[in-house]
Amino acid sequence: MAKMKLLKNIASWTARDIPRDSRVLLRIDANVPMNDGRVSIHGRHRLKSILPEITRLRSRGARIVLIAHLGDPKGKSVKSLSLAPVARALARAIDHPVRFIPHTVGDEAARVIDRMAPGSIVMLENLRFDKGEEKNSADFAKRLAELGDVYVNNAFSVCHRKHASMVAITSYLPSFAGELVVREVRALSTTPKHPFVLILGGMKIATKIPLMKHLGAHADAILIGGATALTMLKADVGSLPVDVPEFTSAKDIASAKAIAKKFGKKIYLPCDLVVAKNLVPDVGPSTIEAFCGAIARAKHIVWNGPMGIPKREDGFVGTLAIAKAIAKNTKATSIVGGGETVECLEEFDLTDSFTHVSTGGGAMLAFLGGEAMPGLEVLGK
Ligand code: 3PG
Repeated sequence: MAKMKLLKNIASWTARDIPRDSRVLLRIDANVPMNDGRVSIHGRHRLKSILPEITRLRSRGARIVLIAHLGDPKGKSVKSLSLAPVARALARAIDHPVRFIPHTVGDEAARVIDRMAPGSIVMLENLRFDKGEEKNSADFAKRLAELGDVYVNNAFSVCHRKHASMVAITSYLPSFAGELVVREVRALSTTPKHPFVLILGGMKIATKIPLMKHLGAHADAILIGGATALTMLKADVGSLPVDVPEFTSAKDIASAKAIAKKFGKKIYLPCDLVVAKNLVPDVGPSTIEAFCGAIARAKHIVWNGPMGIPKREDGFVGTLAIAKAIAKNTKATSIVGGGETVECLEEFDLTDSFTHVSTGGGAMLAFLGGEAMPGLEVLGK
């Protein structure tokens, strides 16, 4: 579906009346990094982005039933992937109790929800503990729908998944987009001004190829760092002082060659690298200078993926320099996303320095890459 049509069609709940007392199944993305059974500080941006919608629904007297997933438990109950600690973190963040229900569906959950007061909040257990979630099962969606009167999807970052709580559920309840979904769709649909600089990094080139193909023609410069750049360098110049990442397939090299051929002149690859043994933890100083020069001239910037391995002491300088250069260019519209990239911004305390920091990792890449977004399409019908 064309982005503009999608934006126009998306049914936002804020434009409707959700009757006071309604049980609202609010799909959020609570897939946050955990540390020793607690939400890691790197989950802050995601958690923070969840809060305004909860506050708004509370002020309308809704009874809020939070539904979400955490990690990849493959349809089984996995203690370390319980959402109980996330419910506690959310309660602290909104300064209001969030009662955790250790079930995904069923009579016990229904009993607790029936007794909820207007404005109160509960959170169900990790939806992916049930095999039906990832299979987009009608049966699981129906059982989930029994726990609500209205469904609100505020999980933009899961909208590329055809899962029961994103898609099938909309067949059983009046369904709307939350404010975060509308905001993300709007920001990511901004028509680029020129010069438009696309910056890509991170590990796996395969996840970036559709976006390069889709946006490459509109971009004036494509700056590539991280392991993605190594695959491009391998495809472009053939020899490298290090091995390409082991997960790089022959297909990745072929796609990288095709991209290099198609957009050759506008692609900036690293001209120097930090090399430690057989590893490339970062891009080098000349590359940083060239990349920052292009960023300073840009009027529109889209960035996904760090320049190196930012968790290493010798791996964060390139990413920090790029983040600062974008933040400094206040005349450009800047859109940044991707789990690792946003973690870096949190670490650098720079999340407030961009026009839009997307909560989407794969979803942002899929949306900008023109791929299917099943969770959005059902809201835009
Ligand atoms: C994310 O973390 O990007 C979303 O929650 C989607 O998670 P998934 O890749 O496990 O489906």
